Amino acid sequence: MRLTILGGGGFRVPLVHQALLSDRGEGRITELVLHDLDPGRLAAIGHVLAQQEQDVPDPPRVTATTDLDEALTGADFVFSAIRVGGLQGRMIDEKVALEQGVLGQETVGAGGVAYGLRTVPVALRIAQRIAALAPQAWVINFTNPAGIVTEAMSRHLGDRVIGICDSPVGLGRRVAHALGLDPAKTWIDYAGLNHLGWLRGIHVGGENHLPRLLADTDALTSFEEGKMFGADWLRTIGAIPNEYLQYYYFTREAVAVAQNVPQTRGAVLADQQDRFYDAVRRDPGSALSIWESARLERESTYGAESREMAGIESRDEDDLESGGYEKVALALMRAIAHDERTTLILNVRNRSTLSILDADAVVEVPCVVDSAGARPVVIDQLPEHARGLVCGVKAVDRAVIEAAVGGSRATAVKALALHPLVDSVTVARRLLDGYQSRIPDLAYLRA
Ligand code: G6P
Ligand code: MN
Repeated sequence: MRLTILGGGGFRVPLVHQALLSDRGEGRITELVLHDLDPGRLAAIGHVLAQQEQDVPDPPRVTATTDLDEALTGADFVFSAIRVGGLQGRMIDEKVALEQGVLGQETVGAGGVAYGLRTVPVALRIAQRIAALAPQAWVINFTNPAGIVTEAMSRHLGDRVIGICDSPVGLGRRVAHALGLDPAKTWIDYAGLNHLGWLRGIHVGGENHLPRLLADTDALTSFEEGKMFGADWLRTIGAIPNEYLQYYYFTREAVAVAQNVPQTRGAVLADQQDRFYDAVRRDPGSALSIWESARLERESTYGAESREMAGIESRDEDDLESGGYEKVALALMRAIAHDERTTLILNVRNRSTLSILDADAVVEVPCVVDSAGARPVVIDQLPEHARGLVCGVKAVDRAVIEAAVGGSRATAVKALALHPLVDSVTVARRLLDGYQSRIPDLAYLRA
């Protein structure tokens, strides 16, 4: 079994490799192909993986290439985790928006639209190459904004592309722990779009335990999302939102905090990663330990702005444990490769799951996965308070894809202006001007 990772020089690739090393089962991944545009990053990650596989019997054979076609040929699974424009791009996404007084964030609001506008053209080209060179491969998309990118790729790959995110799993686990339940034994009822979903129930043995949590203020405010949204608001909506909903429910506060921090998240990570790649280049023999401390640093600072906004002082150990997207990816590959039927929350085409969206809209919902791929399961419809947001943001996703396909500036302005977190068409125009003047990758958008 061959797995190709696009973005193979990325900082989180050792996590995927770790997950592969822990898989001792029959039919596991035996060949790992890393693809990246930057040979220096590939070399650095190569050192980390070489040290990580020491003392592990039969590790997958690792190769690296900067040639996309070579990387894709013969792949059984393609894992896409690229960052078009790098962290410098992420910093500009954040900054231009904050300068206009609107939210600047990696995947939500104006920043997410800008990131989508430069990523979708690249994702479409990759999807076309996969369709031509590895038409049987399963494609796991982690590239953000994951909902938009997965939907764009599905135009060429249909249901062979499946989007993943670690945030629903992390939320489910935190809610289970707050209730004293074993996460492995729960059925999580969750639905929405990527980074725009709600946990509506947590079931064990036929019983929904969410009402018990909503009634217990101490338990409800014992975990990250409970502290972030507050018991009253959670009882009002009767669901636990994904952490990214803070940007919709507390927009002013989020913008104010982001405008006042010394460095945006993108800037913090850009510094950290420059240091990481530089340190490994200078001392490749210590690559693994350099990576391990950099990873701890990244995780401990994750969500710092949200915590500041919600007045949360420190993180619980449970909250620190990352959602583990590499575990989601491995669980997905195993279910497909071994026909081991399982249920995972994934980004797939809607079919008839959520009646407010059409069949091709990519949604984030529980899916049954086996060798035939991922199919959404039948779930309750979205509550009324969620419907407007989901439809509005899906219209934005669609405008981003349409702008990327047609290269139209007017459609790009439409995508920005339709976003619930952009409060004026004039601001949308200024945002696009700002992004285009700072991001060369957006030059393709013309009148
Ligand atoms: C979570 C989300 C990802 C997002 C990441 C940002 O894992 O699910 O979609 O990219 O957080 O984390 P970072 O450390 O890059 O700020
Ligand atoms: Mn995500």
